[in-house]
Formats: sequence, structure tokens, C-alpha cells
Amino acid sequence: MVKEELLKLLEENRGEILPGNDLKDALGVSRNAVWKAIQLLKEEGHHIESIKNKGYTLLKQSDVLSVGGLTQALGAQPSYHVEVLEEVPSTNTYLKESDGKKNNTLVFAKKQTKGRGRLGRSFFSEDPGGLYFSLLKIEDLLQYNPAYATIACALSVRDALSEVSGLSLSIKWVNDIYYEGKKLAGILTEGTLEMETGTLSSLILGIGINVNTGSFPRELEDIATSLFMETGRTYVRQEVAKSVLSHLEKNLLLTKENPDALLASYKKHLLYLGEEITFLYEKKPRMGILKDLTAEGHLLVESEGSLLTLHSGEISIRKGDQT
Ligand code: BTN
Repeated sequence: MVKEELLKLLEENRGEILPGNDLKDALGVSRNAVWKAIQLLKEEGHHIESIKNKGYTLLKQSDVLSVGGLTQALGAQPSYHVEVLEEVPSTNTYLKESDGKKNNTLVFAKKQTKGRGRLGRSFFSEDPGGLYFSLLKIEDLLQYNPAYATIACALSVRDALSEVSGLSLSIKWVNDIYYEGKKLAGILTEGTLEMETGTLSSLILGIGINVNTGSFPRELEDIATSLFMETGRTYVRQEVAKSVLSHLEKNLLLTKENPDALLASYKKHLLYLGEEITFLYEKKPRMGILKDLTAEGHLLVESEGSLLTLHSGEISIRKGDQT
């Protein structure tokens, strides 16, 4: 389609002026067809400037999630099968319930109506400025250790967001990214096991990031934040996704090759180390001192004279006395 091909050319030359004549020749269509496709792209929200007698330019800060833009931005390492959905309950659920999806399918949603978090919680994903996506891995799973997948994902999101924003971000065990006491991003990793062999048959890595989010529902105002709110500028989300994924692919390999290195990097950014925390233990709230991260990625907590190991499945932690 002319529109998609045109967007590809504009994306490849972001910030540069492309003469209408060159575009028409490259696409093999009339100038009028180029003009019409430009209008359609503008209607979709792409920031394209038409410069009289010169041509068209896709502005550097233009931020619309599209298959063409994402495919171009993400490059070919690995080559992702990108889908962009206008609205879906949850990109994780979508992947779980779709048959026949290829390895490295990457699904983005402009909006999720039932964004899911850990421990059955919800994740606010109705703001059009957020970045909500899930990656499906179904091949070469033996190169990963699923026990560290959430840790790899959290570290990747933390590092990518710190790099793009310049903010010094922390990780609240096990899967939340925080800035100055407020949540900026969350991760939900889900796997399926082959019943007969007990081996992993799919891994779904779901990531939600408050990127250009301008406001939150009242009940989240004091506990959630966005990169935009903290830095006062907006981000091109496909560039944010690119950075997250490039960290993620490397860190996923580390889950098997060198989990100690992965855990050491994760621990550097772990919140509340050495501090008092509240946690649920056998369904009851307890207090203790967060002592360490174990080699398995669990938390070691000193509480009421004994050392307890907290496993991620059933535990949520908070700072101090906040039951
Ligand atoms: C959490 O807060 O515990 C994790 C939140 C994870 C949210 C992301 S958004 C994309 C993917 N789809 C979902 O439903 N959840 C994850």
C-alpha cells in the first residue's frame, strides 16, 4: 500500500526533507497519490510537515506506533514480527490465546482495557502515551533460564529507561521500575510448560511503561509516574522500545550464560536493600530487614530473629511499616 511504503521512506529519512517528485518516482505513483497518502498519515497522527516547493519531512519527535515505524526502528537483530493493535484487553492474554504465532512476535497495543500485572493486579494502560507490548518466544528456549526471565526483563527496562531519560531509576523486587517512590513501569512474564516433558514451550514477556503518559486516574496519582512527568519532555516510543529490546535480548541470554552477572547488575539497582520492609509471609503481613538477593533471585529477609527467603510467586513488599 502506498501509505505504508511512504511511511517507510519517511521513517528511513526522519528529519530530512524528501521532494514530492522523488517520493512519487520511488513509489511508482502519481504526485496526487503521494499527497493523499500524506494526508492519511497526518490523520493517523504522524507529524509530517509539507514544505512548499521542497517536499515532506517526518519530524524527529513524531510519535505514532505503527508496524512500519517499529519494524524500521527495531532493525533485524532479531527480526521481529510486529503487530500494532488499536485496543486489546491485554497483549499478554492476546498472545496466550492466539494459535500459530511465530517466534519473536511482538505485539503492541495503543491501549489495553484489562492490562494485567503480577499477583492478579491490574496495570493502568488506557493512556495513549504509554508503551504496552508483549514479546513471544517459542524457539531456542533452552538458551534461556526462565527462573531469571523476570529479572532480565526488569533490568532491561530499568537500564533502557535510565539511558533514554537520564533518570536514575530503581527496581522494586521483582518486576517494578521506580523513580523517587513512584512506579514508572511494570513487567509480567508468563510461560507455558510442555506437560509431558516439563520443559518450557513458550515465554511471553509483557512490558508496560508510562512513557508520555500525561495523567493517571486519581487513585494512582500518588503512586505512579511517567517519563514525561519526570523530565518534562516527550519520547518517541519506538526508540524506547528499541532500547528495551536490545537490552532484553542480551540479558535473556545471560539468564543461562552468566546469571551471576545478571543478578549483580540487578542488585545494584534494587530498592530497600538494608532497609526495613513489610511483606506478606504465609498470607500475613510481617516486617523485616531486606538483607540480600540470593543466587536464585529471591529475597533474603531477617525477621523476628530468623532469616526468611521470599519467592517471587506469592510475595509483595513495601518499604517500612505500610501494611
Ligand atoms: C505489574 O505491574 O505487576 C506488571 C505490569 C505489566 C503490564 C504489561 S503491559 C503489556 C503486557 N500486557 C499486560 O496485560 N500486562 C503486561
